[in-house]
Amino acid sequence: MLVRKIMLLVFVLTLGVYGYGQFVGDGGKQTVLGTDHDLRGEFSGATAVCDFCHVPHKFNSLTNQPPLLWNVQVKPGPYSVYSSASLNGVARDPSTATSATGAAFMSLLCLSCHDGTITQASFYQTTSGMGGAGSTTPPNVGGTSGLSNDHPVDFTYSAALASADGGLRTPTEGAAVRIPYVGTGNLPLYKDQSTDTSGRMECATCHNPHNDTNQKFMRMANSGSALCLNCHGL
Ligand code: HEC
Ligand code: HEC
Ligand code: HEC
Ligand code: HEC
Repeated sequence: MLVRKIMLLVFVLTLGVYGYGQFVGDGGKQTVLGTDHDLRGEFSGATAVCDFCHVPHKFNSLTNQPPLLWNVQVKPGPYSVYSSASLNGVARDPSTATSATGAAFMSLLCLSCHDGTITQASFYQTTSGMGGAGSTTPPNVGGTSGLSNDHPVDFTYSAALASADGGLRTPTEGAAVRIPYVGTGNLPLYKDQSTDTSGRMECATCHNPHNDTNQKFMRMANSGSALCLNCHGL
């Protein structure tokens, strides 16, 4: 038991320093247990939970290795992106992610399941007894219309953007890029490179894949559209 706990700790610490997450404050990951992201029920024989998304060892050498010991094969794309005449931000297709544009993985990782299919073949490693096919179809976000009908993601949300738009809260820039909650806490933005001073908005800005307390894995409750107003209110 102790050995297992130490191994889990080492695994978690390794993930934490990987660099792409950059956001400190997501909290303990035990909250994922029993949520819709606890996929043990979907794959017969599966006992571990983290392994569906992160594995401690990957026995392959990919040219474009996704971060965070990612265990789901990212989809090739391309995804069409949101556009409008009034949009100030420049949305990027997250499927063009490389280690130089690391923030994009914080959307592409979600889309690796949320393009509507997930089977045993979707994983790099199936060491924890993930047999059979997934019995649930993940809600399809990146389907036939790509990301063109979704809230824009994978664009730089800088103080300059907020000022150009005129109706957005100004994010904190520098070491910890984020948008402070109106209450307490933060919505994270993600950097392509650790030296960037501005962060990018990704799926994981609004969603915390490990915590379903606010339902739909939202980072904050959206009652009275509080989530939307946290950025679109002044
Ligand atoms: C459904 C997929 C999924 C599952 C299951 C999952 N994670 Fe994650 N995890 C993610 C995604 C996506 C990110 C990157 C976005 C973010 O940081 O929230 C991430 C980020 C992380 C990070 C780095 C960011 C941080 O908060 O420090 C750690 C550490 C981590 N996960 C650990 C775990 C552990 C431990 C488990 C199992 C108890 C787990 N995860 C289960 C999807 C998942
Ligand atoms: C390993 C595959 C996988 C990954 C990676 C993953 N999801 Fe999911 N997600 C699922 C599945 C499967 C369900 C549906 C489970 C069900 O209906 O029982 C789901 C459900 C959800 C739901 C709906 C919950 C509800 O109450 O209806 C949201 C929101 C969600 N995921 C967001 C995300 C986001 C955002 C990311 C990335 C940060 C992500 N997911 C990454 C597999 C995944
Ligand atoms: C601006 C914040 C925001 C961003 C960015 C965002 N979402 Fe969501 N998402 C929401 C909200 C709010 C809901 C709940 C909507 C509802 O219940 O009608 C939601 C719902 C969902 C659901 C559940 C849909 C269902 O049918 O139950 C999934 C899956 C999901 N998001 C995945 C994603 C993925 C993947 C991305 C990135 C491509 C993403 N989200 C980006 C705010 C966001
Ligand atoms: C984390 C901050 C954040 C959250 C939360 C958020 N948004 Fe946004 N939203 C933005 C930014 C930044 C833009 C890009 C604005 C621009 O570049 O002109 C944007 C763009 C939009 C656009 C497109 C505007 C256009 O000019 O085409 C709409 C519509 C929108 N958001 C609605 C919503 C709704 C509804 C919610 C709640 C479900 C929400 N947003 C939550 C930050 C956020």
